[in-house]
Amino acid sequence: MAEEKKVLYSAMQATGVLHIGNYYGALRNWIDLCEEYECFYAVADLHALTVRQDPAALRKSARNVLMMFIAAGLDPEKNCIYFQSHVPAHAELSWIMNCFTYMGELNRMTQFKDKSAKHSDNINAGLFTYPVLMASDILLYQTSVVPVGVDQKQHLEITRDIAERFNSIYGDVFTIPEPYFGKAGARIMSLADPTKKMSKSDENPNGCVYVLDDKDTIIRKFKKAVTDSDTQVVYSDTKPGIMNLIDIYRSATGKTVQEVESEFEGRGYGEFKLAVGETVADSMAPVRARFEELSRDKAYVDSIIKTNGERAAYAAGKTLRKVQKKVGLPERIR
Ligand code: TRP
Repeated sequence: MAEEKKVLYSAMQATGVLHIGNYYGALRNWIDLCEEYECFYAVADLHALTVRQDPAALRKSARNVLMMFIAAGLDPEKNCIYFQSHVPAHAELSWIMNCFTYMGELNRMTQFKDKSAKHSDNINAGLFTYPVLMASDILLYQTSVVPVGVDQKQHLEITRDIAERFNSIYGDVFTIPEPYFGKAGARIMSLADPTKKMSKSDENPNGCVYVLDDKDTIIRKFKKAVTDSDTQVVYSDTKPGIMNLIDIYRSATGKTVQEVESEFEGRGYGEFKLAVGETVADSMAPVRARFEELSRDKAYVDSIIKTNGERAAYAAGKTLRKVQKKVGLPERIR
């Protein structure tokens, strides 16, 4: 029998809007991972409830995130792409895991501190136990690897702590997940402030380029990219803006730094920015077209949601039942 593939798990906030940093830095590099791993990608709609949401807007953006996964190239036949809320085991395991997590541990989470400062009028218990739900997401699938950015590293560490604690009491129930540092994409910075990571919460709307931006918008944002007062396209720490543009151009074309430098030797920043903008717009065009096609094909997307949701529920159910049994919950009569 062929050896079973290890599980890779990741999720994205249901309110996320994909930008080129997510795309070049993460998503695009996940496409081939299904050859090596059994991959699960969830749309974390339960996590979204930790801040107040408009119901119609949440429903729409959750579906958009799911379609974006597919549009960006993740094949839903080879990867399990699903809504977290469609698999009740997440909420069920989360309750049990809450009973194996200490207040002190959760109190140390920097994201909780940041978010409670930002939403001081709504510091709800869900915001506090957010990492426990995230741990449950990961542990339910017997996950070996989790591709995470620096901002989620602490949450992966607490996941490991909870899992190890549980295993030390009940035996080997959970696989202990490791961070995934595979083929990393470039770290894309804000066009408005190249010392900060590109983010949808950039105060300057020109700092962040979205995958679904139209061609003119993308080019306009690149034309406004902050650089230095020099004119040479050279990759150097002293030129963070140009470095970032070279990284983006390399990501879009597969060229090396030297190739980019010689291509633009003596041509000035204006021409370079325009070329990067056009190249990025062209590389996003098929993703945008696929997204639009999916938006029009409700029946297809619904069928993916249904079948992948069922696949996820099947895998998650196995772990959940094991946990329920270990902790002493009464057996179900069928
Ligand atoms: N908290 C993650 C974020 O904000 C999203 C997430 C939820 C996640 N569950 C997860 C990421 C499980 C990795 C694994 O980006």
